[in-house]
Amino acid sequence: TVRRISVPDIAARKGGEPIVCLTAYDAPMAALLDPHCDVLLVGDSVGMAVHGLPNTVGVTLEMMILHGQAVVRGSRRALVVVDMPFGAYEGGEQAAYDACVRVMKETGAQAVKLETSAELAPIVRFLVRRGIPVMGHIGLRPQAVLAEGGFKAKGRTDAERERVLAEAVAVAEASAFCIVIEGVAESLAREITQTIDVPTIGIGASAACDGQVLVVNDMLGMFDWTPKFVRKYADLRGEIDRAAAAFASDVKSRRFPAEVETYFSKKPASP
Ligand code: KIV
Ligand code: NA
Repeated sequence: TVRRISVPDIAARKGGEPIVCLTAYDAPMAALLDPHCDVLLVGDSVGMAVHGLPNTVGVTLEMMILHGQAVVRGSRRALVVVDMPFGAYEGGEQAAYDACVRVMKETGAQAVKLETSAELAPIVRFLVRRGIPVMGHIGLRPQAVLAEGGFKAKGRTDAERERVLAEAVAVAEASAFCIVIEGVAESLAREITQTIDVPTIGIGASAACDGQVLVVNDMLGMFDWTPKFVRKYADLRGEIDRAAAAFASDVKSRRFPAEVETYFSKKPASP
């Protein structure tokens, strides 16, 4: 049996070989990604990527648990991290602890991720001291989309740069084992990565981070729009469109199914 990559394994990658992370939401995709990834993140981006929600605010703990179970079942080697959804951890230490324990017990995932403003550092510390490995998430925090009026990259002004750096320092000092940095200027990502002693994993945060993460549906080309920070490694949207069109045409013209695709056909399969 293959040993899973552990939380200390990831923490030890600071400044070393870059950490490879993709999101995954279901077992077959997790199985395909597992040989290539250090970390599989069951992101609350599942709300947008799979459930058709306009943002991640509507994602529930139950949704995260179901998708987390599927990804743990489908993978063998990668560290599996489950996103805590909006509303499940911000209210207080005990509520956050109870929700994280549910996720860990019911999914078998090795860690949770919280979107972490500096105000939430005490909650991170509370969880880590009780045995819950926490991945932080700073910079652009998608769960704050309603408060901020959109998804906005960070690091244009000095005040904003100082605030995001302070977030990073607070969350690292609270003993997060790793921090996702989303949507920040390259110089800010570099400064954070050089300042804190835990690995940073960037998304739209330049090559200066200790690793990179992308939403798998984005990098596979499942959407018709591509944000600046995404590289499309496949065109699944085009593939699926072509396949569905070919199936529809074959059904309408009765070219599908053929004899070889038919049970107990009277005619023998073509020689
Ligand atoms: O939900 C998600 O997919 C994420 C990553 C993009 C970091 O939080
Ligand atoms: Na997320």
